[in-house]
Amino acid sequence: MLFDKIEIKNLKSKNRIVMPPMCQYQAKDGIANDWHFIHYVSRAIGQVGIIIIEASAIEPRGRISMNDLGIWDDKHIEPLAKIVAACKNHGANVGIQLAHAGRKSKVTDEAIVAPSSLAFSGQYALPHELAEAEIIEITEKFGSAALRAKKAGFDFVEVHGAHGYLINEFLSPISNLRNDKYGIDKSLFLKEVLEKVKASFPSEAPIFLRVSGEEYHPGGNHPETLASQLKPLTNLFDVLHVSSGGTIEKEHYDVFPGYQLEYAAKLKKLLGKPTIAVGRLEDPGLAEKALMENKADMIAIGRGLLSDPHWPLHAAQNLNIEIDWPESYLRAKGL
Ligand SMILES: Cc1cc2nc3c(=O)[nH]c(=O)nc-3n(C[C@H](O)[C@H](O)[C@H](O)COP(=O)(O)O)c2cc1C
Repeated sequence: MLFDKIEIKNLKSKNRIVMPPMCQYQAKDGIANDWHFIHYVSRAIGQVGIIIIEASAIEPRGRISMNDLGIWDDKHIEPLAKIVAACKNHGANVGIQLAHAGRKSKVTDEAIVAPSSLAFSGQYALPHELAEAEIIEITEKFGSAALRAKKAGFDFVEVHGAHGYLINEFLSPISNLRNDKYGIDKSLFLKEVLEKVKASFPSEAPIFLRVSGEEYHPGGNHPETLASQLKPLTNLFDVLHVSSGGTIEKEHYDVFPGYQLEYAAKLKKLLGKPTIAVGRLEDPGLAEKALMENKADMIAIGRGLLSDPHWPLHAAQNLNIEIDWPESYLRAKGL
């Protein structure tokens, strides 16, 4: 099934292999450069069906580091457009992760923000608690970022609602202690972000949402609580991408092959949306099994693709499946 086609709205992928967003920390002023071009296009040549460009900040104080990619200004569009065009030329679909780091930003030139004034840990600055008007401004910046993504030619966008960053901070009872409507309804901020993004991106293109399905803390979100938050929003996104963690500093969990798969399976069942599973799934047999057992619809390979840009070619060989190789590499096929 890994090499079966999949269609979601107007996105048509030749396989179910996803490159998940992975920060490269190589940008200056948020602008993509040669590193990003080579990094992403190599994975398209390696036959990844769906590429998600790393967390790209919708405003400068929403960067995790000073070297994150950005999409807060029109100057970011052209270098991204070149990456998109080249990846598409090699048969991949490309999206970009729209992100805001919230209280987990380590920018050095601006105050950082969060739903509540609680530092992530001693290593992070104390965030400013966002006022309602400031919250609305941020949702609008997500919309403007989606419009830039459209101008750059992206096939889809992914909203980053995972890993303890701003959207996750609003969703989680651990980091959202507000008493206003954004605290009473912890998914309201995400709802407004998705609405703005949807209004700015072509209606026939899919919107992906990445979440932390488990927060590894009794007081945090778990698949069931998250599902009840997301249930009223299912008409605002098309694909759920299930990761975990990031809300608390000291997490205790085991990283084993498929360690997040059961969270994906549970959320897929509860919400009925096409779902991407991720987390040490680079054993092709395991990835295939996850799809066969209907625990997910697509499989993201992160670190596996960092160490092997041609992972899909090798996975197909491992599974005895015939796929097209790039013509120039055919002589390596029998090795
Ligand atoms: C170098 C690196 C950078 C990452 N950056 C991001 C990111 O920008 N956005 C995100 O949602 N997850 C990010 N992640 C998490 C990955 O997308 C993925 O969920 C995680 O690595 C687990 O998958 P794997 O076991 O296949 O690597 C990053 C992971 C790595 C290794």
